Amino acid sequence: MQKKITYISDLKDHIGKEVTIGGWCYNRRSSGKIRFLLIRDGTGICQATAFKNDIALEFFEKCDTIDQETSLSLTGTVRQDDRAPGGYELSLKSFEIIGVSKEFPITPKEHGVAYLMENRHLWLRSSRQHSILRVRHQIIKAIRDFFDNNGFTLIDAPILTANACEGTTTLFETEYFGEKAYLSQSGQLYNEATAMAFGKVYCFGPTFRAEKSKTRRHLTEFWMVEPEVAFLDLEGDMDLAEEFVEYVVQTVLAKCEPELTKLERDLTKLRSIKRPFPRMRYSEVQEFLKQKKIEFAASSDEELKKLSEDILKNGMGDDLGAADETAIGLSFDKPVLVHRYPSAVKAFYMKADPEDPKYALCVDMIAPEGYGEMIGGGQREDNLDKLMQKIDEHKLSVEAFKWFLDIRKYGSVPHAGFGLGVERTVAWLCGLHHVRETIPFPRMMEKIWP
Ligand code: 4AD
Ligand code: MG
Repeated sequence: MQKKITYISDLKDHIGKEVTIGGWCYNRRSSGKIRFLLIRDGTGICQATAFKNDIALEFFEKCDTIDQETSLSLTGTVRQDDRAPGGYELSLKSFEIIGVSKEFPITPKEHGVAYLMENRHLWLRSSRQHSILRVRHQIIKAIRDFFDNNGFTLIDAPILTANACEGTTTLFETEYFGEKAYLSQSGQLYNEATAMAFGKVYCFGPTFRAEKSKTRRHLTEFWMVEPEVAFLDLEGDMDLAEEFVEYVVQTVLAKCEPELTKLERDLTKLRSIKRPFPRMRYSEVQEFLKQKKIEFAASSDEELKKLSEDILKNGMGDDLGAADETAIGLSFDKPVLVHRYPSAVKAFYMKADPEDPKYALCVDMIAPEGYGEMIGGGQREDNLDKLMQKIDEHKLSVEAFKWFLDIRKYGSVPHAGFGLGVERTVAWLCGLHHVRETIPFPRMMEKIWP
């Protein structure tokens, strides 16, 4: 029978005792009468040490044949040693090779990103990727805890859908028993139905956009959490987004300091993510960006100079561009809530501002430090006639949205919600330039495997 395996993270409870660990050889070194095997098991890293005088010669010699990523079970005595990685060392008595590994494609030396992405299934074993995905795990847990602890019910939305939610240009089409169907771009429309049944709901799952752009912020498959609340207006929606993001950042900071430190993240920047966040109307943002364009153009920083050229490229009345979002993010040390964009550039379901119907009661949250838009949401059109008119203006089929219109026919109430993209949040919190490392197996325009 296999020996009971002790996890490296639990070695602290076994000082002075004999244990068996199971793992993979990360690296090995030798020095005279000592052999060092660096073992990782997913919970940590441990140095296993073989002293020539303390171990059978057969094992001592075999140490030199163990290549990177060979899997082993190793038995020895746990010793505390502050110099050892992880703080504990295993004085080896014996070991067994479980699976040989020869010429592992990813060595401790530098590799290009394209090569690493091709070997993503193996790259995940490296310590940096390990740290990022541990942070991702804690972000997802914090997201769930926030909503679960605040009276929200998790009601998941379907992935196979008959309607478009976020416009028809980024739809992945598929065939559904002879009919057209699409991979969901957002669970929002279903959330609006379930919010009328449960009051406060959220859905959390993968969403799909056939983005033909190759930017550092876009994936074709990404995870989105979407809360939706009945009897909530835009102001309440912004308050919720703010409280939620503060909670997620501060919780992850408290739980993942070792991982974030390993990623060389500036923790002081994250510690300052506390409410209130600045709020600006779209029209104010336009004025603000005009100033930034001038200011950055005059800067001695070449990157800012270059950014300045792309600021306000889209023109007044259009959606903000990537450079605009970057400029906003670089100008504040907290996320910024940009609200009331022109209705014309936003989705059909947005409620028009009764004070100036040219603008929609919507909000985007722009991350600091140039990580871009991480939240999109707002108050929904709850009036049946106005919503039908919007569906018509957007050249969508009223027939396809019949069920959605029912929500306005049977006890319609003001309601609002938003969607937060998990990968952009991981990129921001970990300080990663590109979203490709924020998800185990990224899907992008030119990437479907591994
Ligand atoms: O702004 P978006 O498109 O909003 C919606 O889908 C709404 N229906 C959500 C709602 O109100 N319930 O997307 C929301 C967020 C973005 O702010 C961004 O963080 C992320 O989803 N996102 C993407 N992340 C990675 N790759 C892409 N292609 C993304 N598109 C959106
Ligand atoms: Mg958006």
